[in-house]
Amino acid sequence: MWDKKKLLTIDELSRKDIELILETSGILEPHASKGKLQLCRGEILANVFFEPSTRTEKSFQAAMHRLGGDVIMHKDPGSSREKGESKLDTLRVLEQYSDIMAVRDPETYSLQQYAETLALPIINAGDGSNEHPTQALLDLYTVLKEKGSMENLSIVFTGDLKFGRTVHSLIKALRKFPGNRFFGISPETLELPVDLKGGDYEEILFEDMYGIRPDIVYATRIQKERMVSWAGEKFSYEINNDVLRKLPSTARIMHPLPRVNELNPEIDSDPRVIPFKQVKYGMVVRMALLALMLGHEKELPSQGLSN
Ligand code: CP
Repeated sequence: MWDKKKLLTIDELSRKDIELILETSGILEPHASKGKLQLCRGEILANVFFEPSTRTEKSFQAAMHRLGGDVIMHKDPGSSREKGESKLDTLRVLEQYSDIMAVRDPETYSLQQYAETLALPIINAGDGSNEHPTQALLDLYTVLKEKGSMENLSIVFTGDLKFGRTVHSLIKALRKFPGNRFFGISPETLELPVDLKGGDYEEILFEDMYGIRPDIVYATRIQKERMVSWAGEKFSYEINNDVLRKLPSTARIMHPLPRVNELNPEIDSDPRVIPFKQVKYGMVVRMALLALMLGHEKELPSQGLSN
């Protein structure tokens, strides 16, 4: 039974909560490509992006439309924020017009502060370099569909592990399932934050990845927008056909996107390369989350995916 009205961090979710979200995603997936359900008819999502987005913003929007609900968008610039209105006042205004809110903010931990004032259900759509819990949920759904399990996996993370909030949330989420091992490949200045390291985590070199025979390689870009400056440390973690040849046929290459130079487009046709499946599942999982958080668990369609 779902009882949560806020999703600010993966820490708030139990393994059972995650399983319920993914099970609900399986039920809603057949309804994610054609027509509209009526589950959220008459309800409004305030989709608030104080920082740019393509996937998260549009998939929340599409998810609410597929559920039969409506969306009001807020993006800066283009609002009275330009006259000096604070973010919190903006959110308090939008709260009057909506039933649920998804918020992205460049400030780390800002969502926690907003949630203390706001009474409506609120979802973290990415807060600075801290977390991106809905990305982790869609990543888990992708892993489950591709690997059949979320346990006993070897996952290699490459890129900016310091500022990459998708990595932070995904490691936290995968730690709720037993037997997973994590390997980090990053420039020295962009290692995983100390509080996220643990006995199940090891820093390795790119070449070491082949010996690990990973189940998942999760590539990320350098988050230049979170740095005062980027010294241009040579980024030598491109996954191309040469790299792919040395990885097992069972491996999957994931990326939260946008990509810059981490995945060479020459690998896109390889069935092991699945970032655009992640994109598709993003809408499905956000449909599930909106339906659960708006209290529609008992009204879900009866047919799920056979998987
Ligand atoms: N993966 C992700 O969060 O993409 P956007 O920044 O485009 O939302």
